[in-house]
Amino acid sequence: MTEAILLVGGQGTRLRPLTSHTPKPLLPVAGVPFLAHQLARAAAAGVHRVVFATSYLAELFEPHFGDGAVFGLDLVYVTEAEPLGTGGAIRNAADHLTCGPDEPVLVLNGDILSGLDIAALRDGHRASGADVSLHLTRVADPRAFGLVPTDADGRVTAFLEKPQTPEEIVTDQINAGAYVFTRAVIDRIPAGRVVSVERETFPDLLATDAVVRGVVDDTYWLDLGTPAAFVKGSADLVRGRVSSPALPGPVGDALVLDGAFVDPLAVLSGGTVVGAGAVVGAGAVVEGSVVLPGARIAGRALVHHSVVGRHAEVGAGSRLDSVVVGDGAVVGAGNELPAGLRVGCGAVLADESVRMSAAPSTCAAAHVGARR
Ligand code: GDD
Ligand code: MG
Repeated sequence: MTEAILLVGGQGTRLRPLTSHTPKPLLPVAGVPFLAHQLARAAAAGVHRVVFATSYLAELFEPHFGDGAVFGLDLVYVTEAEPLGTGGAIRNAADHLTCGPDEPVLVLNGDILSGLDIAALRDGHRASGADVSLHLTRVADPRAFGLVPTDADGRVTAFLEKPQTPEEIVTDQINAGAYVFTRAVIDRIPAGRVVSVERETFPDLLATDAVVRGVVDDTYWLDLGTPAAFVKGSADLVRGRVSSPALPGPVGDALVLDGAFVDPLAVLSGGTVVGAGAVVGAGAVVEGSVVLPGARIAGRALVHHSVVGRHAEVGAGSRLDSVVVGDGAVVGAGNELPAGLRVGCGAVLADESVRMSAAPSTCAAAHVGARR
């Protein structure tokens, strides 16, 4: 029996406008709030109790997951009056743990989709007698992450969060956002102030010769913090490239949720998910995309690797590639939106008002459109 702390208090700035009204961990990924996948995997690994460390839009979590009985979990919600950073959040949540000082506590970033064997990380931690064990993964470009070099015995030798210079890029191993702490180590994190586990707690532990293990595991791993990663993670779940006990349908090319309507002459592929109450019209092609509940995609629209927000509309014949359409926004007919464009919540793009040739940064219309 294991307890876990789930870090879910971040603002999800890189996913705006999707995160303007919904915290990143609650955005639907493969048809269910992202955390459902993490909670189901944790439960399968023998976790029985999870403390949510919330801050941004904190009140939205409990209505989704309640007491956790659906997952076979006991859930506890803790809210920081002011965001305490990752380390401060862990320390604050620890007041609600029930285990003893020598027990392992799992700590998870709330935006990681991975195939990690959580039970093996915990059991290896216990057997090693380490103070902290970190899941590490390898990425081609580590600059957006915490770099974690290890020695021949797997002991962490440094922790370099978000390296700024080429000299700092000493490894392709990064912090994958899943830790096992021996409970007593958490209790020593200073209480009642902002602490970064990455910039303060881990470097301090290394400075005091604590045993910090890095466990490199090259299983599927994705941080869902950007629009591109968000659509990829959802599509990979739908296509079964990473498994989740919480997937609400069979693995396949597309997932159409109950209450959605997809015209028989529309084509869905690449792991597209169409949410409840959404409509996709005849001749539309939707590939590798997330169509959120209540959205409407008109006939002959082409939507690739994009997110169409709740109750947003994409007009007939419009083309979207790697675009985020905010909740309630309207993309009129015949638009060609350039990759990277984000259409603000409730914005309205008139018919044929944006063409491919416009650079994303010059598409002011996307953010100044009149509200409905
Ligand atoms: N409760 C609480 N309070 N949670 C927070 C706070 C806070 O003040 N700040 C961030 N979080 C949560 C976020 O919700 C997220 O689940 C997690 O902490 C990590 O924050 P991100 O904003 O996603 O950080 P990141 O992706 O830039 O970097 C982190 O994750 C990388 C792996 O994806 C770091 O841990 C890196 O070292 C790591 O490589
Ligand atoms: Mg992240």
